[in-house]
Amino acid sequence: RMEVTETFAGMSLPGHLHTAESLRFASSFEFRDTDVVIATYPKSGTTWMQEILTLLYSQGNLLPAKTIPNWFRAPWLEHIYFKDTLQETSERRLITTHLPCHVLAPGLKKAKAKVIYIARNPKDVVVSFYHFHKFAKFLPDPGSFNDFLMRFLDGTVQYGSWFDHVKGWLSHQEELELFYITYEDLHQDLGRSVQRLAAWLGCPLPPEVLRAIEQHCSFSSMRENVMVNYTLIPSEIMDHSQGQFMRKGTVGDWRDHFTPMQTMLFHRLYQEEMQGTSLHFPWA
Ligand code: PPS
Repeated sequence: RMEVTETFAGMSLPGHLHTAESLRFASSFEFRDTDVVIATYPKSGTTWMQEILTLLYSQGNLLPAKTIPNWFRAPWLEHIYFKDTLQETSERRLITTHLPCHVLAPGLKKAKAKVIYIARNPKDVVVSFYHFHKFAKFLPDPGSFNDFLMRFLDGTVQYGSWFDHVKGWLSHQEELELFYITYEDLHQDLGRSVQRLAAWLGCPLPPEVLRAIEQHCSFSSMRENVMVNYTLIPSEIMDHSQGQFMRKGTVGDWRDHFTPMQTMLFHRLYQEEMQGTSLHFPWA
């Protein structure tokens, strides 16, 4: 395993993708009002949204989605390679981030950049994240599912606390140009979700473009697309004999992983963390 870790804003991040410099650059980044930023806690539907926006912007033309890896089309703001990638996408910039809101809010507000925030049932997030740790060699060995779950609940996993991430971003809904959607919304009705998104972005959505998105952004299509399924990444970084990035793509897989005791513990902490917020989620 590549055990290098970078510490930032009280959380650990994989050192192979982040440096103090790349994080400083991200924190003081000058957004434009034409920028569209996808903000997520990991495993919440990031890649799905990158693909949807690629096709929305190309008006259904599959060429970019089939020939350019997602990390070039919508690079992560905080990653080492971001600066070099950005120049290639200067006109309509699609930017991805897993950073917490408090780091980026000042810059986003100043520019009135658009933010798409996607949340997913944290029980499914932890399951997906656990399986991801097994084959992503730049992340620590997850240990048993129970060990990993306890660290997720403590907020000591890489990328920090799910609760802080979601509360941070969603408490800024009014001050930012923020479109909020869940993985579960996308899963339940992709067409309707894309219609809402396109309307918010002011992006035309003729029926044939919607159809192209529905077909191309299905789990089965994306699983086969090497530009988004991460099979282009060398095996020292992602060991594909240990798992797949496009793993299941379902809602509720936590039921096959959680014991009744784990469900109870999770529920208790969830209530504690979320009480007093007026946030509503499809899973709670
Ligand atoms: S990352 O590493 O943060 O960029 O991961 P992220 O893309 O946010 O999340 C990966 C999970 O999203 C699932 N996925 C999809 N589900 C349904 N439909 C489509 N088209 C789709 N694309 C990606 C992917 O399978 C991961 O979830 P799990 O539960 O592990 O399958």
